Amino acid sequence: MNSYAHITGWGMAVPERVLTNQELAAMVDTSDEWIVSRTGIRERHIASSAETTASLASLAAFRALDRTDLHPGDLDLVIVATASPEHLFPATACVVQDNIGAVNAGAFDLSAACTGFIFALNMAAQAIRTGSVENALVIGAETLSRLVDWEDRATCILFGDGAGAFVLQARARPGGVLSCTMRSDGSGGNLLEVPAGGSRHPTSLETVHNNLHKIRMNGREVFRFATRVMADATREATHKAGLEIEDIDLVVPHQANQRIIESAARGLRMPMDRFVVNLDRYGNTSSASIPIAVCEAIECGRVNPGDNLVLVGFGAGLTWGALALEWTNPELDVPPARRRRRRLLAQIAAFRSHIRRFLRFLEGLIWGSYTEGEK
Ligand code: COA
Repeated sequence: MNSYAHITGWGMAVPERVLTNQELAAMVDTSDEWIVSRTGIRERHIASSAETTASLASLAAFRALDRTDLHPGDLDLVIVATASPEHLFPATACVVQDNIGAVNAGAFDLSAACTGFIFALNMAAQAIRTGSVENALVIGAETLSRLVDWEDRATCILFGDGAGAFVLQARARPGGVLSCTMRSDGSGGNLLEVPAGGSRHPTSLETVHNNLHKIRMNGREVFRFATRVMADATREATHKAGLEIEDIDLVVPHQANQRIIESAARGLRMPMDRFVVNLDRYGNTSSASIPIAVCEAIECGRVNPGDNLVLVGFGAGLTWGALALEWTNPELDVPPARRRRRRLLAQIAAFRSHIRRFLRFLEGLIWGSYTEGEK
């Protein structure tokens, strides 16, 4: 049985629009100097009205598939980790599944905020390791700009939009995802939340009036929590994989705050050059931050075959976790003709979706009148 889950494809997508600290300083009482010194963030990407969590996720997914020899129809599983889903339901993963034409895949969302990508990657890897699925697509995607209170200087400076995707495939040779630590503490749920819009506080004029559909955060408490858990989770996942901290070539932390990452590095007694940091250009993109950081690290040549990586995150819930993996050599030289064919398949997926909707409409007309007649 092919029982190891290897990452064979990766891709990212961010909106074109960049929002700088200087622009934010014109919107709320803040300054570039304050934001950079307290967070390390200089700019972030913000979705246009035409861009959504699913559209960014689908683009990242196509780019990840482009690196593999798979067609969308070969996927058995699509998981989207997101805190800013397209709808309460259907799942954003189903929108993506339809967009990319993953006609044989089960698709669902995973809600663990900024730790979501780590949890989702672990779920997909476990499904592969048991033999239940062969090919999985895991995406972290967000349009948090839609949930940000643009008048709250304590939060609006932090977040950005984007998506990152990994393709995982079953292989006989050891490597790929090695271990994972998943933790949560719901007693801290109120430290970072969007209070309304769910069953506790359904949307009403009052919830809108009281601004309860926007992100609320106790920054200091979240900061304290994050600095407490990052090093421990990294150590735990490393040891579970049978490795020591010295064996880890690269840590890819959730990109929330430069000071949190530096504190984790100190806790692990690791030099900062073994950490991937790109939050200066993207801000905190929640579940997308880790896959985006991995994509960039690969592009810069910082990830090589045989390297041991730890991905570590924390977020609302509270949730936190770390995942150790051995980077194998997945680079396939996919011929351009094949990539072109995949683009065509994407167009066919959109066409197929329209046809299915039309057929469903026709069925509704036929069966709808039939049941009407039965009554
Ligand atoms: N510009 C200028 N001043 C600001 C500000 C801003 N954007 N935001 C807050 N301040 C002010 C506060 O009002 C406060 O003023 P006061 O002392 O007069 O009350 C002062 O700066 C210090 O606020 P504090 O909250 O203690 O700052 P901090 O050093 O903790 O930094 C965060 C604030 C939000 C950057 C920091 O707490 C943080 O990063 N927390 C973790 C958040 C996070 O990662 N969330 C996502 C988790 S996935």
